[in-house]
Amino acid sequence: MIVAIMAPRSGKTSGLAIPAILAAPGPVLLTSNKAANDAFTATVDARAEVGTIWTLDPQQIAHHPREMWWDILADARDLAGAKRLAGHFVAASVDESNGSDFWSTAASNTLGALFLAAASHRRPITDVLAWLASPADRTPVDLLTDAGHDAVAAQLQGTVSGATETRDGIYETARQYASCLLDPDVAAWVTPAKDLPEFKPFAFATSRDTLYLLSKDGGGSASAIIAAAADAVMRAAVVVAERSGGRLDPPALCVLDEAANVCKISDLPDLYSHLGSRGVIPMTILQSYRQGQRCWGEAGMDALWSAATVKIIGSGIDDADFADRLSRQVGDHDVQTTSVSTSDGGKSTSVSMRTERILPPDAIRALPKGKALLLATGIRVAMLDLRPWYKEPSAKVVGPASARATKAITERAIAKTHGRDDFGLSA
Ligand SMILES: Nc1ncnc2c1ncn2[C@@H]1O[C@H](COP(=O)(O)OP(=O)(O)OP(=O)(O)O)[C@@H](O)[C@H]1O
Ligand SMILES: [Mg+2]
Repeated sequence: MIVAIMAPRSGKTSGLAIPAILAAPGPVLLTSNKAANDAFTATVDARAEVGTIWTLDPQQIAHHPREMWWDILADARDLAGAKRLAGHFVAASVDESNGSDFWSTAASNTLGALFLAAASHRRPITDVLAWLASPADRTPVDLLTDAGHDAVAAQLQGTVSGATETRDGIYETARQYASCLLDPDVAAWVTPAKDLPEFKPFAFATSRDTLYLLSKDGGGSASAIIAAAADAVMRAAVVVAERSGGRLDPPALCVLDEAANVCKISDLPDLYSHLGSRGVIPMTILQSYRQGQRCWGEAGMDALWSAATVKIIGSGIDDADFADRLSRQVGDHDVQTTSVSTSDGGKSTSVSMRTERILPPDAIRALPKGKALLLATGIRVAMLDLRPWYKEPSAKVVGPASARATKAITERAIAKTHGRDDFGLSA
């Protein structure tokens, strides 16, 4: 279970994500906020040779045509699942540091109730949007009662029939959380489509397929969908592993590149402890320890950090406390110092031992690009030379493949703009 922390442009994708994906023996999941000349283009050809490629590109980062759909409500058929799904939408819009106030908690509960109402009757997620738009609509309350979720129905009824200002405030907050689904082009990826293949997380776990989850970052982006999909895949993989002797063989690799930007799974630290020993290998890639704290809170980031059995720290660590902590973990060594003193009686030499940091904090902060510290369970800290894909022999194949895939993205983008008139309307 891997957590990697490296500054922007320091080789996270080229030195960690891409080599790991190219070497993966089983299914692979990648989250990313970039398409051209990044992990998607560098690995898509090689992965297409071993299994099916599933690309979930709701915001058209790679201008990828919609060739699949995924049932975002599949796991929301029980209350816990519906709450988790609502949590992904909240996390994508709110930082852990903003705390959870009345409005966000109430909005999250309401969203969870609406997801449950839709999921338990196999209604599409677009129905949830319609209910959000008209809080007076009694349909979701009736659906919940119908499905035996009386307590949730009563709670939702309480919200709906409460003071108008409060109700409207809660619904407005919930609408903001779910705003990415207002775009029909985004919602289509997670709504049943008869003529397209459905991505099924359980089948994926035992396949050698690849799931690319692409999204822009920032509020209003589709990152909630990305986080929900990654969460669903990892949880399904654990269930499949438990059913088949405890471990997935070959293991599933889940590369959460730009995790804090596009894949804010709030309980990722807990999830890490479930994934261990199940043959599901998460690789969470962050730009700084702080970025992790902003996303999962201080305690959450500490939990994630301790749950990781393999920690990789690259160049550009700009956080003095973190550098000092690492320096202490690397440890001390004894250095021999010789001092010579001269006096009337002649020269005298004395040898003494002094304890010094092996790697002082300033040396950690000055780690050059391409170097990384490895903290793995059971071994002393090691200094690594990263091996970015473009310096490997296989670059002869991967380089041109990545260039081709990047060119295809550009062509799809151009084709789209040509299909529109000056007003941006489809011809
Ligand atoms: N094909 C290539 N050939 C030579 N150098 C490359 C190549 N691809 C990337 N690099 C170098 O590696 C650096 C880091 O690239 P990479 O995208 O892996 O970093 P990153 O840490 O993932 O960045 P970001 O934070 O933007 O995601 C680039 O600035 C570039 O100098
Ligand atoms: Mg990157």
